[in-house]
Amino acid sequence: MRYAVLGTGVVGRAVAGKLASLGHEVVVGTRDPRATLDRDDSFAGWLHEHETVRPATFAEAAEGAEAVVNATGGAASLAALTAAGAENLAGKLLIDIANPLVFAEDLPRFEPVDTDSLGEQIQRAFPEAKVVKSLNTMNADVMVDPALVPGEHNVFVSGDDAGAKQAVTDLLVSIGWPRESVIDLGDITTARGAEMLVAAWLRVSLALGHHTFNFHIAGARRG
Ligand SMILES: NC(=O)c1ccc[n+]([C@@H]2O[C@H](COP(=O)([O-])OP(=O)(O)OC[C@H]3O[C@@H](n4cnc5c(N)ncnc54)[C@H](OP(=O)(O)O)[C@@H]3O)[C@@H](O)[C@H]2O)c1
Repeated sequence: MRYAVLGTGVVGRAVAGKLASLGHEVVVGTRDPRATLDRDDSFAGWLHEHETVRPATFAEAAEGAEAVVNATGGAASLAALTAAGAENLAGKLLIDIANPLVFAEDLPRFEPVDTDSLGEQIQRAFPEAKVVKSLNTMNADVMVDPALVPGEHNVFVSGDDAGAKQAVTDLLVSIGWPRESVIDLGDITTARGAEMLVAAWLRVSLALGHHTFNFHIAGARRG
């Protein structure tokens, strides 16, 4: 499968690297590939280690892809996806991992929150894309290597398109997530809960002093 992973941060790199290791064709999207390589030695080094992965503009990456991953900063996601181009997202699976964090002096706040979510904003802005919110409730390392966290733990999917959620579930299973660990929360409005859970994640991470943990929903099987 041909994936565009939009985002050059830790999440974009983790997901792109994993998809490439599974044999997928992966292009990583960034605003300006030349500028990003010049500015960010660590990204250049990462690309060197992942020679099948190619950098491109957001639009070039999305245009050639069958499925798109949004791993851009939450406050910038709508701008990044607009740059990717609605026509390059139409009809495609769009896996949204971003969190709508606004960084403040201490802990970030969420915008939007409560009555809206970034996942919904993206679905409204790109109605022809099949948006599935997933993987946003854990650290990037755990997303692509769930065995880092011992025992049972969960990953959520939210979205309006049942086929798209099934495709994401199958992808998660191929990454190493047990099928029963995937919890379908419902339509894209349920992304509100998945995004707001990150407020708890941030506080747990401060309390534990590390990032390699995840949420486990006890009794997760449907009653
Ligand atoms: N870090 C984690 O473990 C983790 C876990 C769960 C969810 N998330 C979420 O995943 C997303 C990615 O996180 P991250 O830490 O990997 O990276 P990040 O630093 O939040 O985002 C980096 C990406 O955002 C793009 N970007 C920044 N400002 C932009 C703008 N004004 N217009 C267009 N694009 C812009 C950058 O583009 P350039 O490449 O052009 O610089 C870059 O590709 C975030 O939404 C985050 O909340 C992160």
